[in-house]
Amino acid sequence: MRIVVFFSGTGTNLESIIHNQKKYGYEVCACFTNNPQAGGIHICEDHGLECKVIDNNHFTDRVEYDKEIDLYLNSIEPDFIILAGYMRIFSSCLVDNWEGQIVNIHPSLLPKYPGLNTHQRALDAGDKYHGTTIHFVTSELDDGPIIRQESFEIEPSDDPNSLMDKIKEIEHRIYPETISFLNK
Ligand code: GAR
Repeated sequence: MRIVVFFSGTGTNLESIIHNQKKYGYEVCACFTNNPQAGGIHICEDHGLECKVIDNNHFTDRVEYDKEIDLYLNSIEPDFIILAGYMRIFSSCLVDNWEGQIVNIHPSLLPKYPGLNTHQRALDAGDKYHGTTIHFVTSELDDGPIIRQESFEIEPSDDPNSLMDKIKEIEHRIYPETISFLNK
């Protein structure tokens, strides 16, 4: 199974996905980012992986930008597109072309807290539990059939940073394993 990993930032999930390829029997065939400054680009270099960079700031129109992504995806023909901290919304034409093949990880217990600042929002709401969700991507933001969730109890000492660390630790464990369960 060949996957392409999309990211926008530090890429710690990207790293765990790359690191676990052999263990779980999938192949990271390529990586993609919208952000030329993304730390994850160095992770790709360290692993000798090609990273395609298309800077979204060079486009005024989201559909035009996503057409470029579609061309790129057609050139590499991945079985799955794995979003790992990719902080842009796909337009519906892109989602339609790759329906059932795009998977995202989102740092909340969806349907709670789609969008940004999920850790602060869980704290503000006085939630007892927080967690992360792996789901198929549809044209709605942070929506789509849920594949897997994992939660933990929020402690009184937690703040947004500690919640982020706890979530990433879970994500690094469950995302690679979940990818290996996807069917071509
Ligand atoms: C991850 O926690 C992921 O769940 C989140 O961004 C972080 C990326 O961290 N994704 C989203 O918020 C998507 N809506 P990383 O760059 O260290 O892997």
